[in-house]
Amino acid sequence: MKNLLAFKDLIDFELEAFNKSLLNKKPSSLYDPIKYTLDLGGKRMRPLLTLIACDLFDGNVSEAVKPALGLELFHNFTLLHDDIMDKAPLRRNQPTVHKKWNSDIAILSGDTMFVQSFQFVMQSPLINLKQVLDVFTKTAIEVCEGQQMDMDFESQSNVSIHQYIKMIGLKTSVLLAGSMKIGAIIGGAREEDAAHIYDFGKNLGIAFQLQDDILDVFGSSDKVGKQTGGDIVSNKKTYLLLKAMDMADRYKKEELQLWMHTTDVDPVEKVESVKAIYEYLGVKALAETEMQKFYEKSLLHLNEIPCNQNKKDQLKFFAENLMQRES
Ligand code: IPE
Ligand code: IPE
Ligand code: MG
Ligand code: MG
Ligand code: MG
Repeated sequence: MKNLLAFKDLIDFELEAFNKSLLNKKPSSLYDPIKYTLDLGGKRMRPLLTLIACDLFDGNVSEAVKPALGLELFHNFTLLHDDIMDKAPLRRNQPTVHKKWNSDIAILSGDTMFVQSFQFVMQSPLINLKQVLDVFTKTAIEVCEGQQMDMDFESQSNVSIHQYIKMIGLKTSVLLAGSMKIGAIIGGAREEDAAHIYDFGKNLGIAFQLQDDILDVFGSSDKVGKQTGGDIVSNKKTYLLLKAMDMADRYKKEELQLWMHTTDVDPVEKVESVKAIYEYLGVKALAETEMQKFYEKSLLHLNEIPCNQNKKDQLKFFAENLMQRES
């Protein structure tokens, strides 16, 4: 536990220093939203995973700090653009950048963070740079692929669970997996162990996004820091919705389809009605079982890695906490 807290302090310290460097940068309408976003915090999960992975292979964690920061910046860039795409009003309990400022600003501040993320990732040790950039650029493109699939699925009615898992694997999991692999590379991991840590992150990320989708419907907005129900309003093809469509009888299926295809509905009424159908069909428990399945799959990969048991246990503890999160 001591290491995890120390790693979190290290990331917070570096991010604060970065934020200070933005203080008087001009134009302020470009930099203020970046500062605002980073000041609001978040779990800092991706940079933590980078440092944890580096440490797992007894690497020099200080060499992984800058790239870890780059991964957090990349994540925050995706959030700015995602909130425009998802028309989300709240993030980390505060107005989203496109609401507080406007979409043009959210696009360009996001773009800037994307480039800044490269500036940090490029500070990886020279000996690892090529390998790290290969992972990072591949990951960045895959996230875009996943985000596009997520958007395409909004208007598709024949999405399968398999396609959904593929989509969340790309939009969310590859960044967790890539963050860990980058840490492992800098930590000097053997290729096969770096592959196992990637697969650990990939499966954990799928479990994480399943949980995110559950929290979007059943979580408390205060704790999650986002407006709940947004996935239902925009007809996101989540596990919950796909499973509900699978299990519903003819009448419930028609009801669901009506909510999805009728425009100009009261969003509050839509969320309440669809949520009631989810509750009636018990799809939350099924999504949790699916989440557990991917979590357990992730552990199989972790178990394959020959490293200090105490460090492994710490990572397991971290992952387990993620699965029980409410925010
Ligand atoms: C939100 O990520 C986007 C998803 C992939 C679900 P996090 O839940 O890690 O967001 P923060 O950084 O902690 O706010
Ligand atoms: C987000 O998925 C994935 C990325 C940001 C790339 P969501 O759209 O579910 O994330 P939240 O719920 O807005 O955080
Ligand atoms: Mg989204
Ligand atoms: Mg979103
Ligand atoms: Mg979500």
